[in-house]
Amino acid sequence: MSTSMTTDALSRRVLRYAHAQGTGRSQFPTPAQVAEASGPLPDGAAGADAVTLPYGTTELLERTAFPAGRVAGADRLPERALLAAFGLQRAELTNPYFEHRALPSVRSLFPVHAFLTGEGPARVLDVHRHALAELPGAARDTARRILLAGRYTRLPAFYGPLRGTLTELELGISLRALAVGLELFGVRGRLTLPTAEGALTDLGLTDGEWSLPLTVDLDGPGRPEPAPPTADGERPPTADPSLDEILAVNRAQAALAPQEPALLTPAIPREAAARDLSWAEVLWERGSGRMPRGLTGMAGRLRQVPEGSLAGATAWAAVPPPGELLRRVAEHVNVTVAVQATDGFEDGVHRLSGGRLLPHRPGAGALAALERDYGYKLAPGNGCDVRHASAVWFCSVRQHELIAELGPGAWTLAQYVAGWITQGLCLNAAAHGLYARPARAFDGLAVQRPLGLAPDETVLLSVISGTPRFNGLPLDLRL
Ligand SMILES: Cc1cc2nc3c(=O)[nH]c(=O)nc-3n(C[C@H](O)[C@H](O)[C@H](O)COP(=O)(O)O)c2cc1C
Repeated sequence: MSTSMTTDALSRRVLRYAHAQGTGRSQFPTPAQVAEASGPLPDGAAGADAVTLPYGTTELLERTAFPAGRVAGADRLPERALLAAFGLQRAELTNPYFEHRALPSVRSLFPVHAFLTGEGPARVLDVHRHALAELPGAARDTARRILLAGRYTRLPAFYGPLRGTLTELELGISLRALAVGLELFGVRGRLTLPTAEGALTDLGLTDGEWSLPLTVDLDGPGRPEPAPPTADGERPPTADPSLDEILAVNRAQAALAPQEPALLTPAIPREAAARDLSWAEVLWERGSGRMPRGLTGMAGRLRQVPEGSLAGATAWAAVPPPGELLRRVAEHVNVTVAVQATDGFEDGVHRLSGGRLLPHRPGAGALAALERDYGYKLAPGNGCDVRHASAVWFCSVRQHELIAELGPGAWTLAQYVAGWITQGLCLNAAAHGLYARPARAFDGLAVQRPLGLAPDETVLLSVISGTPRFNGLPLDLRL
């Protein structure tokens, strides 16, 4: 008996070995790569009881015109909004990063999770089970809320303190994605910015790896009970000094003055021009650009693009984030864009001001110059086509001025604002058949001069957008 089981196991091993050598197999991810493809759930949730999410959200969005259409006649609206925002869209079989959603994420690691409270135990969105999974350590909360929290340790430890800003940029991206999802399904949400650990403790997330959550109340005016702030120095140090620093900076939000919960919508600009498309197509097509054969980076083609692609991007970038405080922070976030080969716009650097792009440094060649300052160079294993992009956007801030005026918590808020703008640019690009790649890889000092930034101005995030040269093999994962 044991001999035959051993033979079976050995046969499976030999078959896997033979299969792995078949034609084209090297282009497919290994099971380990698939398992690594997206963030593990909070501890204990993977095996916990779960409520299945509704099916057919994509079909509803297929009947909804981009950008002005809204879904009619649907049930389970908050869950469908979560699926529109964070649900799986496609697997890309020739991309080193396997899983893709309607929002970008560093190496498709998805450090930000969405939580839903209000019926029974708090639950976390588990896109792989197409379900909301119970959180074992969570308190029962009768208010219907969606919370977004980022797990810093999901990003590789060698990213050091960058894990903080990247995760918080992704919180801003996730907030815009959620706002768009709620707007599409006609659900009102009110955002409360984090001021204390209480909401994290309520979710049972006590392990010192998580950002404070952004809370969106779905019923009534909303106001999560503020818990007492964590006093400075109270947190026991972890074994990772850069994680301690990330947590301390994130908790500086406790010093922010409490704000009234702010309506999350509108997040979709009315005037965004587009081809004749459905929302399902736009969410499906959102991408950061690709390379063939499992190579990293992106390849683009320089093409004259219509005015609407940049006018639409401007409209998406100009939608203010929710609430007075984030809007005050947004006044400090400068949006600068280097443009070429775009109808209706002069080549050169422009600045967003009063909802319009104004020429800032006119002249050809800005994108070729910027490619020299981009960290992931063109190489045998990596594509880089900044010089062939249509536009490269930069969100930047004079951080001394920001913190002097709005306090230390404003640094994290500036990441949310840059993320909010970025997700708008990504959706607009998809609507115009363009890729849009968020990147932290430009040399922040080197780009100051070509962009005309101040010497004390820091780039928070950039977005490279252009015509893709390679579209890859997508596998449809939508439900
Ligand atoms: C905050 C943030 C920073 C990123 N930084 C970079 C970067 O520096 N270089 C890069 O090539 N891609 C960067 N990306 C893009 C991701 O690698 C990309 O979203 C991921 O591979 C998934 O691909 P997709 O967006 O096409 O679904 C970044 C994404 C985010 C959200």
